[in-house]
Amino acid sequence: MSQIRIEEVKPTFERVGLHSHIKGLGVRDGKVQFSADGFVGQVEAREAAYYVVKMIKAGKFGGKGVLIVGPPGTGKTALAIGIARELGPDTPFVQISAAEVYSMEVKKTEFLTRALRSAIGVRIREWRRVYEGVVKSIDIQYGKHPYNPYAQIPRSAAITLATKDEEKRLRVLRRSLSS
Ligand SMILES: Nc1ncnc2c1ncn2[C@@H]1O[C@H](COP(=O)(O)OP(=O)(O)OP(=O)(O)O)[C@@H](O)[C@H]1O
Ligand SMILES: [Mg+2]
Repeated sequence: MSQIRIEEVKPTFERVGLHSHIKGLGVRDGKVQFSADGFVGQVEAREAAYYVVKMIKAGKFGGKGVLIVGPPGTGKTALAIGIARELGPDTPFVQISAAEVYSMEVKKTEFLTRALRSAIGVRIREWRRVYEGVVKSIDIQYGKHPYNPYAQIPRSAAITLATKDEEKRLRVLRRSLSS
């Protein structure tokens, strides 16, 4: 008998912003294209930005910055985002406004520290070790429940695992026993 599979279709949500069409600097095979990655035109500016990207990737741009100058709405911010996208998905982009630096409430250094903190990414990795083998013995040690004096909970256990070549005795702590 054939089975009917039902899957829930979750609605896709995409945040659309002023610059969400910018995916990079529009470089293909080392050459800036007239129209690519959301950018159209501004080829010279994008070429200059691509030099910056190459220098950053080569580790030759530490401690330096880029000043992009131009009339309002000509794509200065878009260019900066293009540089960040071109550097890869792990490169953060934090936009700050100069007006915010001169706030009455927040000190300049405090504001800049906050901006810097929001640019720091943390990657959490979890290591897992997998032991395979035949369970030869399990000795579970019980202890007092922290809230219930009439109940006992496993505190630790010793497991003996064996394969055809070796035998290992492993101690398991309470946290991994209860999960
Ligand atoms: N060459 C381009 N191709 C595609 N989109 C662009 C290009 N240049 C600018 N844009 C888009 O036009 C809009 C205005 O550009 P942007 O905000 O980068 O200008 P700006 O120079 O930073 O302006 P301001 O001086 O006001 O900060 C944005 O949505 C940006 O993504
Ligand atoms: Mg801007």
